[in-house]
Amino acid sequence: MDNAGGKQPPHTRPNGPSPWVARFAGLARKGSRVLDLACGGGRNGRLFLARGHPLTLVDRDVGHVQDLKRETGVEIIEADLESGSPAFEGNGSFAGRRFGAIVVVNYLHRPLLVPIVEAIEAGGLLIYETFARGNEAFSRPKNPDFLLRSGELLELVRGRMQVVAYEHGLIADDGCSGVKQRIAAVKDTGGAARPDGEPPPHPLHPD
Ligand SMILES: C[S@@+](CC[C@H](N)C(=O)[O-])C[C@H]1O[C@@H](n2cnc3c(N)ncnc32)[C@H](O)[C@@H]1O
Repeated sequence: MDNAGGKQPPHTRPNGPSPWVARFAGLARKGSRVLDLACGGGRNGRLFLARGHPLTLVDRDVGHVQDLKRETGVEIIEADLESGSPAFEGNGSFAGRRFGAIVVVNYLHRPLLVPIVEAIEAGGLLIYETFARGNEAFSRPKNPDFLLRSGELLELVRGRMQVVAYEHGLIADDGCSGVKQRIAAVKDTGGAARPDGEPPPHPLHPD
């Protein structure tokens, strides 16, 4: 990978994972397959691979994760997630598949939001973090199609997943300042293991 002169797009540089992803990666069940959707250079997926998870990476440009193609358990899928068959239906890349965790960072295509949640297996994890309304004042993206509305990720998982953590606001902890919204949620609302039907608690700082 040529990074001469720092000209390489930031999302393809081999930076470390998002701090939000790193904080909640430990909520993924041991050994479960993780999907890093719109993976770029795969910085977030690489964290899960290092933690022993099989890993599926998808992007329309998978040139920046080719170094992982011979790693055990790694699947690399080149796909345009916004055209052709919907990714999680029919002949789409992920039709009928379920994942132990799905991680999406700095990418938004609204038609995929509900299918992403549906593709998480029981007990599985969603970590989603991307730009939100208000970011227009700071940097790209500025198009509202690519900016989450206040509470949008909470609405997405309501009744489907237990929210472990949620934030929305101005942050500068992932290499660029901006307004972001981020969530970590576990699909364990249906188990009713407790007499009151409440899902079990999870550590807020998992190992
Ligand atoms: C800002 S980067 C984020 C990369 C990575 N998630 C990260 O946090 O480092 C957005 C990624 O979305 C991918 N992407 C954008 N539109 C896409 C599409 N229609 N289908 C598949 N991937 C797409 C880009 O190729 C790029 O790698």
